[in-house]
Amino acid sequence: MEAVRGELGFAGMTSVERDLEKVWVSERGLWQDGPPHELFRRLRSECPVHWTERISEYPEEAGYWSITTADDVHAVSRDWRTYSSERGGVTAVSDVFPIELIRAMFIGMDPPKHDRIKQLFQAGFTPKRIAAHSDEIRAIVVDVLERLEGRDSCDLVTDVAQPVVSRVIGSFMGIPPEDDAVWANLMNSTLGAGDPDLNPRGVQGVLENDIPEIFKRCRLMIADRQENPTDDLTSVLVHAEIDGQKLEEHEIVMGFFLLVAAGNDSTKATYCSGMRALIEHPDQRQLLLEDPSLIPSAVEESLRMFPAFAHFRRTTTCDTELNGQHFHEGDKIVMWYVSSNRDETRYEDPDRFDVRRNPEHQAFGAGGRHFCLGTALARLELRILLEETLARYPAMELAGTPTVVESPFLNQLKTLPVRLAP
Ligand code: HEM
Repeated sequence: MEAVRGELGFAGMTSVERDLEKVWVSERGLWQDGPPHELFRRLRSECPVHWTERISEYPEEAGYWSITTADDVHAVSRDWRTYSSERGGVTAVSDVFPIELIRAMFIGMDPPKHDRIKQLFQAGFTPKRIAAHSDEIRAIVVDVLERLEGRDSCDLVTDVAQPVVSRVIGSFMGIPPEDDAVWANLMNSTLGAGDPDLNPRGVQGVLENDIPEIFKRCRLMIADRQENPTDDLTSVLVHAEIDGQKLEEHEIVMGFFLLVAAGNDSTKATYCSGMRALIEHPDQRQLLLEDPSLIPSAVEESLRMFPAFAHFRRTTTCDTELNGQHFHEGDKIVMWYVSSNRDETRYEDPDRFDVRRNPEHQAFGAGGRHFCLGTALARLELRILLEETLARYPAMELAGTPTVVESPFLNQLKTLPVRLAP
């Protein structure tokens, strides 16, 4: 049975395995073509709070509760006292990163410390402050797209999205451009630990190679900013004081990691999934070509349908109840944004890609303390990326079958081969 679970998608399961109670939601076999939307549709209607007993790739890991509806994800996100980010980590699998490292990032802290560290950055990420970077971001996008001149085809993930997002977050952090590719590789292999292409050395390789390399490179940047403070975000971390105390070195390194990882990965994922949807739905692309003022709405629809992170996780701090289901203290609670963003009680015909929908969604979290810091930056980057790509290549076509990252956490394409101007 376990072997079958590992190899087949939900559609390929026998009727016995279609019994929802027996499904283990994060099994690799279910995610080979991206999120198992049909499974989530059934969970929302038949078993909205669902128990997964085990994760077969991580046999030591405890099982978890899946939260699949928008209302329940909202309730969990808002209640940090009951649903902690600090107690057990922020992803379904706890084994990849040591818990002390997760807790050194503010995404893995609870208030009050979380709020104090986040506050250090919030001023720099307001829509107004981010809008001031608009010209700079457009110049980065144009530069990357101009490198494609003379080519018939390219891969949108590696040739466009990756270099753009790396340079944008790199410029915020003070990373020199020549180091962008090294940082991107470190982030991709650490976050995509389970995907054999992104990380051929597996989880052990992350612990033995990637994390030490991240620490080594960060230490050099920290030493430099201690001597020569600049106005980049690395300097903010190095010189931050919380209640009169500086952050410890591992907190600075992991704060840096959090910002680079979040900036590197998510925007790339949404741009590529959104572009794929536009190529596959030429009528929707035509609407944007005729009226580019619809692009911000297309960005929101891409965020809704293809949230870059399939889930984040909390751990209960006490016995509690949600939607009629009892939880024990210490239970893992996994909020599936890939499901809540297609909740049919909130969206009409939720699987339809509609650039005019301009929806509210939970791709950035569902409010609450950990709501994404980078929303204004991500929205601006995505708008400029879509504007410039569509203006140059209005008839782009697929030039092969796109592949997805094999992960129940990262919801993103690994390759997106396109013909630029057929
Ligand atoms: C399409 C783009 C993006 C998506 C879909 C996204 C999604 C998310 C989500 C779902 C969370 C909530 C985590 C939780 O509830 O535990 C989050 C948190 C966060 N995001 Fe983003 N993100 C994006 C872009 C960015 C960018 C560009 C940055 C820039 C640095 C960023 C920085 C962060 C940080 C620092 C947090 C932690 C916030 C906290 O714990 O208070 N994100 N993001």
